[in-house]
Amino acid sequence: MKPIQVGLLGIGTVGSGVFNVLARNQQEIRRRAGRGIEIATVADLNVERARAVVGSDVKVVADARAVIADPNIDIVVELIGGYGIAKQLVLEAIAAGKHVVTANKALLAVHGTEIFAAAQAKGVIVAFEAAVAGGIPIIKALREGLTANRIQWIAGIINGTTNFILSEMRSKGLDFDVVLQEAQRLGYAEADPTFDIEGVDAAHKATIMSAIAFGIPVQFDKAYVEGITKLSAQDIRYAEQLGYRIKLLGITKRTDKGVELRVHPSLVPAKRLIANVEGAMNAVVVQADAVGTTLYYGKGAGSEPTASAVIADLVDITRLHTADPEHRVPHLAFQHDALSDLKVLPMGEVVTSYYLRLRVADQAGVLAKVTGLLAESGISIDAVLQREADEVGGEGSTQTDLIILTHDCQEALMDAAIAKMQALPTVLAPITRIRKEELN
Ligand code: HSE
Repeated sequence: MKPIQVGLLGIGTVGSGVFNVLARNQQEIRRRAGRGIEIATVADLNVERARAVVGSDVKVVADARAVIADPNIDIVVELIGGYGIAKQLVLEAIAAGKHVVTANKALLAVHGTEIFAAAQAKGVIVAFEAAVAGGIPIIKALREGLTANRIQWIAGIINGTTNFILSEMRSKGLDFDVVLQEAQRLGYAEADPTFDIEGVDAAHKATIMSAIAFGIPVQFDKAYVEGITKLSAQDIRYAEQLGYRIKLLGITKRTDKGVELRVHPSLVPAKRLIANVEGAMNAVVVQADAVGTTLYYGKGAGSEPTASAVIADLVDITRLHTADPEHRVPHLAFQHDALSDLKVLPMGEVVTSYYLRLRVADQAGVLAKVTGLLAESGISIDAVLQREADEVGGEGSTQTDLIILTHDCQEALMDAAIAKMQALPTVLAPITRIRKEELN
């Protein structure tokens, strides 16, 4: 049978990986897919660079629309990124009856509802394994491997840049700014790292996982997003003294009231496997009713790891594209007319536990006042750590740090309690609040 014909839009780091891995493993991939998979055309504004990657046997064009319009192309692979031209091209490819493979988490998290509806109407597949956690087959696991389960929660380290920064901050005791500069120098962080360090990239991925896990539409606008820019080496150290590591987690959880969808730094018990995922690696823990806890670990970015996910989608489409649309795996795991309107909860309704650090005057009654306010708010304390004033502020210091771990409470209650504690004259600096996840 004629190989399935693929058009690549964009041949940067991931596109080159796709080309190289497909070429290297073509025999095995054909034996798995039942048919060859051939990159027929590559569109890239940088025609010279594209030509250098693919050689002279593959057609190279500057105009992506020429690929979409080509009747020989069966699958369009979008590797451009962003919501601008990429969105137009994906919608045009769908309208032209092409299947689409994309690694574009931002596009799907924000415009997924429109894109999946267009694909459903046209009877084409939009596949996106590479959009979440790079080479880890987490979409496949959630959508197919765990299909028997009622998924309860997912917590993932789904941004390698921030995990690298946090690992370096912990192991070297350095502050965020210093490590970020080092990460940029080494090429681990982008020149503009905003999406990574502010948690946006992780929130895109968490949004996609929440949709697949709970059968709800993708709703990035409802996600709570907090990055790692305000974390200090000191908090990482205190957390460690209490038996925790700080990780940027993407969390989505089913509760009686709705779905939690949030990205923020979290204290995680140091004994959990996920707390020991270091450097740029990714990991996702899924808790589900039948299987229990499962953990997925691997490279969340990079040329060939991401290509591995893109090619897995190409193989899936090659196997399934002649099947009736209703016999294919639904885009969001649940049949498109069976999505639920379970609401995504505002952050004030989320229930979790907390690490609080208060810089306080080292004088009688301060601890009692602070813990009294927490008690008045109905917030139960799990542990308290008070540092020696000399250790915190140098010899003769009249200030110290008070670290409090709480039991679970509603975020809105904690907001109110923090406002009251902050108003105490003996609380001398903005209170640090980091959420804590036991993940048990
Ligand atoms: N920038 C991402 C990361 C990889 O650092 O994990 C692509 O999503």
